[in-house]
Amino acid sequence: MTNILVIHGPNLNLLGTREPEVYGGDTLATIDESLAEQAKQVGVKLEAFQSNDEGEIVNRIQQAAGKVDIVIINPAAYTHTSVAIRDAFLATQIPFVEVHLSNVHAREDFRRQSYLSDIAVGVIAGFGINSYLLALEAAAKHCKQSAKKR
Ligand code: DQA
Repeated sequence: MTNILVIHGPNLNLLGTREPEVYGGDTLATIDESLAEQAKQVGVKLEAFQSNDEGEIVNRIQQAAGKVDIVIINPAAYTHTSVAIRDAFLATQIPFVEVHLSNVHAREDFRRQSYLSDIAVGVIAGFGINSYLLALEAAAKHCKQSAKKR
């Protein structure tokens, strides 16, 4: 069975009350519940992890090597700063989908730069909670297609 790890970066634990006009009113618990429900329907195994700490995210990616087929990550602010998270993906070679609730290209200039987009399988931004659900659908299909090729 395809094994998917979802990683939520810093401040995403505050969803629901954090800038709802930008990020919507859904809490992280709601997002994780919706993902779990969709994972059941699609027939994939899914685990979700949130951290405000860059090193913890790096550790989680390293631990996932050889165990997880694909990562869905909203790196949050680390998108725009983290060489360490980029290097963790390069080192482990775990494929990943980059996700954002907001359309990062329609906001401040600094949010247009991502240390991850060019090494991601794909990027989904701007659809609120649906960014995650679209990413799950795409990630599951991507793994099925890669398995067929092998
Ligand atoms: C975000 C966009 C980032 O720029 C920001 O730092 C976040 C959330 C999003 O989901 O839209 O924390 O990744």
